[in-house]
Amino acid sequence: MTNFDNPHGQGLANMLEGAVTIPPGASVLVAYEDASLGWYDVELKDRVIEYCREILSVKVDSVEVGLPANTPSAPLEEKLQEKRFDWIIFLARLGDQGRFDEDHDGPRKLMVYTRRFSQLASTFGTVPQNAMITLKKVVDDLINNATSITITCPHGTKLIGKPNPKVSKTGESKDGQTLDDASKDVTVVRFPAAVSTPVSAKTFSGQVVLRQGLTSTGSKVYDPPNLPIASQVVAHVTRGRIERFDGPDEDAEAVRAHYERVARLFGIEPMFVDSWHQGLHPGTDTSPMPEEDLCLWGETLFTSPQYLHFHTCGEYPPGEICWMVESPTVELDGRNLYENGRIQVEAFEVFRSCLDQHPELRALF
Ligand SMILES: [Fe+2]
Repeated sequence: MTNFDNPHGQGLANMLEGAVTIPPGASVLVAYEDASLGWYDVELKDRVIEYCREILSVKVDSVEVGLPANTPSAPLEEKLQEKRFDWIIFLARLGDQGRFDEDHDGPRKLMVYTRRFSQLASTFGTVPQNAMITLKKVVDDLINNATSITITCPHGTKLIGKPNPKVSKTGESKDGQTLDDASKDVTVVRFPAAVSTPVSAKTFSGQVVLRQGLTSTGSKVYDPPNLPIASQVVAHVTRGRIERFDGPDEDAEAVRAHYERVARLFGIEPMFVDSWHQGLHPGTDTSPMPEEDLCLWGETLFTSPQYLHFHTCGEYPPGEICWMVESPTVELDGRNLYENGRIQVEAFEVFRSCLDQHPELRALF
C-alpha cells in the first residue's frame, strides 16, 4: 500500500477530498489519455486510482481516451452508456471540452490540471482548493467593482475597458469556479482553481501585442492548432472587434490567414475578442517553452499570473483562438492589481483577510 503521508498525498487529498466530495461506495470512472502523448503521466493515473480505492473506498473503473476531437470519444461513450458512474475524473484534455459543462444529468466531473504526479507535491497541488477559490473571489470582486480597467504589457499592449455588467452571461469551460460553486454543485469541478472569471471584452479598445504565436482555446479541434510567429504582430481592437493586424508582412498575413481558416472551418465570425482572464496560481509549472510546444505552453501557463489571456475568433466564449499576454499589468482605477505578472497582494486591503483566513496562500506571495 502506498504511503500517502507526504506532499504527493497532500496534493491527492486536496484534489480528491478538498475539491470534491466523493462518498464511500460511489462509482468513479477515471478517463485518462495515453501518457505517450506527453501530457498526463502514468504515475498520476495510478496514484489517483489507488487513492480512490484505498483512501476513499470507492469503486473505480478506468478508460483510455484519445486526443480531444470534435466528436465524442467512442471508448468513453461506451462506458457512460452503462450509466453506473457517479463521478468521472478526467486525466485527459478532452474533459475541458464544452460538451461536458452542458451535460447536467450525467455523472459529476472533475477536470485535473496537475498533469504530472510531481506537480501534486508542489504548491500547485497542495495549496487548498478552497483557499484558491477565496483568492479568485477577491480578484473577481476587485475587477467587478472597478470603474475603468487598463491592461498593459512591457511590449506595448494597452487596452482600456470596463468590468462585466452586473448580470453577466459570460462563462466558459476553463472559467474558474466562484465561491458559490464551492458548494460543489457545478457540472465540472476544475482542479486546481487557478484563473479569474472571464471579463467580457465588449467595452475594451486599444491594442494587444501578439508574440510567440496564436494558440487554440481548446473549445474545438482544428489542425494546425497553433500559429508560431517570428516577430510581434499588433492587434488593433475597438469595443471587442478586431479592426486589423499590423506587423511585418509575412507574420501579419499569416495571422490573418489563420483567423480566416479557423472561422471558415466552423462557420463563425473571426474578428471578435470575446473576453479575457488572468492566471491566479504562482505555483504554475513554468517549464514548457513556447518554442518547444506552443500548445502545451499555452495550456499550462494560462493559470500563471505571468499571463493574461484573451478568447478571440467567434462571438461566444471561449472562442477558438487565444492570445497570451506575458507579464501583464492590470490597473483598476489607477491602482495595479497585477504588475508585470504579479498579483499585488500588498496593495489592496482585501487580500489581508484572505491571507489571514488561508495562511497557505502566503507561500505563494
Ligand atoms: Fe480561458
